[in-house]
Amino acid sequence: MPDQDLEEHFARAHPSLSTFRRIFPFVRPYWRQLVICMVIEVAFVGLWALDPHFIKIAVDEFILQGVFKGAVYVAGLMALNSVLRAAMSAVQQLSLWRTGENTLNDVRKHLFAHIQHLSMNFFDREKQGHIIARVDRDVEFLGQLIIEAPILIVHTLSSMVVVGFILITYDWRLCVLVAALAPAVGAAAWASSKWGLPAYRSVRRSMSRMTANLVENVSGVHVVQAFGREEQNLSTYQTLLSEYKANTMVGAMVRGITFPGMMFVFGLANAAVIAYAAYGVPRGYVTIGEIPATIMYIGMIYGPIMMIAQMYDQFLAASAAAERVVQLMDSKPSITDKPGARDIPTIKGHIAFEHVHFKYDSDPHSPWILEDVSFDAKPGDIVALVGPTGSGKSSIVNLIPRFYEPQRGRITVDGHDIYQVKQKSLQDQIGVVLQENFLFTGTVMDNLKFGRPETTDEEAVAAAKALGSHHTIERLAQGYQTDARERGAAISHGERQLICFTRALIADPRILILDEATSSVDTDTEIAIQRALWKLMEGRTAFVVAHRLSTVRHASKIFVIQDGKIVESGTHHQLLALNRSYAGMFEEFMGHG
Ligand SMILES: Nc1ncnc2c1ncn2[C@@H]1O[C@H](COP(=O)(O)OP(=O)(O)OP(=O)(O)O)[C@@H](O)[C@H]1O
Ligand SMILES: [Mg+2]
Repeated sequence: MPDQDLEEHFARAHPSLSTFRRIFPFVRPYWRQLVICMVIEVAFVGLWALDPHFIKIAVDEFILQGVFKGAVYVAGLMALNSVLRAAMSAVQQLSLWRTGENTLNDVRKHLFAHIQHLSMNFFDREKQGHIIARVDRDVEFLGQLIIEAPILIVHTLSSMVVVGFILITYDWRLCVLVAALAPAVGAAAWASSKWGLPAYRSVRRSMSRMTANLVENVSGVHVVQAFGREEQNLSTYQTLLSEYKANTMVGAMVRGITFPGMMFVFGLANAAVIAYAAYGVPRGYVTIGEIPATIMYIGMIYGPIMMIAQMYDQFLAASAAAERVVQLMDSKPSITDKPGARDIPTIKGHIAFEHVHFKYDSDPHSPWILEDVSFDAKPGDIVALVGPTGSGKSSIVNLIPRFYEPQRGRITVDGHDIYQVKQKSLQDQIGVVLQENFLFTGTVMDNLKFGRPETTDEEAVAAAKALGSHHTIERLAQGYQTDARERGAAISHGERQLICFTRALIADPRILILDEATSSVDTDTEIAIQRALWKLMEGRTAFVVAHRLSTVRHASKIFVIQDGKIVESGTHHQLLALNRSYAGMFEEFMGHG
């Protein structure tokens, strides 16, 4: 399963400097807030470290001396201190949250814009789910890395410095004793990450397998039921469930050992301090009040260290996520404008392919998908492409808006090599209706205006009337205001096609590319679609990949594509007279029709 391999590979990633360097610019605009948060954290630690010292003073100066009034003052100071800390913490949390959200929003905005400019081969290569996970989940993880981790580190370091300083003023021997615990705490932390990490990863891996299985079974439930696969699929899921259970069990066991291990170290430390007191107090090395204070200080410095050990895995996962985000940021569009490229002037619609050779991969040994394709389409021509499935029809039309770049040969529009002009100026004048008619979230009306947002409702309705789709749209549940969501689940294939045609008409491109949907529709819709199609193509240079030969008959040119080559070309009548593959296809079509 390459998916999981990928997850695994990244799960092991340690934070690298180059990743930080790429993410840092997103934090930079907010560095002031972040620095303020860190300063607050240091101050917070300072105030927090006062508490044990207050206890020492209360015990040594007042309680043991029988000055109980003084103890009350100290208690008041401690209460004030905790109010102050709570207020600081609230301000800091809010500011941290704001900084985090601002940064993550900037990263998301950047990624969104970036993705929209990537070339088609990126989307062929990457799974949709992966791209979405980068922007959603991985960016979320980033917050831990750039906000939580630095704060935790500042907290730990400042605790060590402040507590170390206070302990030295108490008694250097006591300070050495506390520091001597470091190896034991380190060992517990190390054990927890050594055994905990792999366990945690297997839990995550089985979780993602379970999710993938669930998603597939929900989205493919029609097929599951139609093939009566419910029982088998349930047992597959059960296997995954027990695997998951076994893995969480291991995780729980590791936690069950390492966590008490850390607790044990704490207990040992406290015992050691008390034992030392038996030696140090009579000799005047330490005071009685310093004993409870030291025990509290142990928690203050070793607590955060253990927290880092516990969160270590999350930080690794976060840096892996950061790496994936950076990888997405760094993926470059493979098709870019040449330096000095200019806008193509208003297109008349003369399109020529000159010995075009093309394949999707760059492997020199793989066969051509398109081989030596040459043709000429004059402005206003309607060019139909027919041929068996997989012969290369969609591939030919995908080259015209520069979705891909041919390895050899030239494509010109009005004599301009399309790889020498600005891609946007070219694409703005080309309309594309693809094989899978895609509708966006929003109403049908919103979708109609997609290519030309300034269109008024009246203009959109007029276009639908001109195209003959008005009645079909009006018959939808809420007419033009029908929600087109869920890839238009509630809208039938034929209706969707008519909406897409209308959308293309409103955009009014000079060149039109239509990759006809293969799904069949009822005769009435078929007639409506055919009529709309011809209306749409009127006055433009149009390329239509036709699966229904009824579309083809009136085309100015028909190309028969086989194995990536044009094997026949001419008008309907010329090709019939030729009596080769087109004639054969047509005969079969008439027979079935
Ligand atoms: N994005 C892609 N990446 C790699 N190979 C592709 C890609 N798209 C198509 N192909 C391959 O290129 C060949 C031509 O495909 P193309 O989609 O152009 O055929 P088609 O004539 O449009 O077929 P259909 O009638 O089924 O739509 C096929 O072998 C196909 O597997
Ligand atoms: Mg196709």
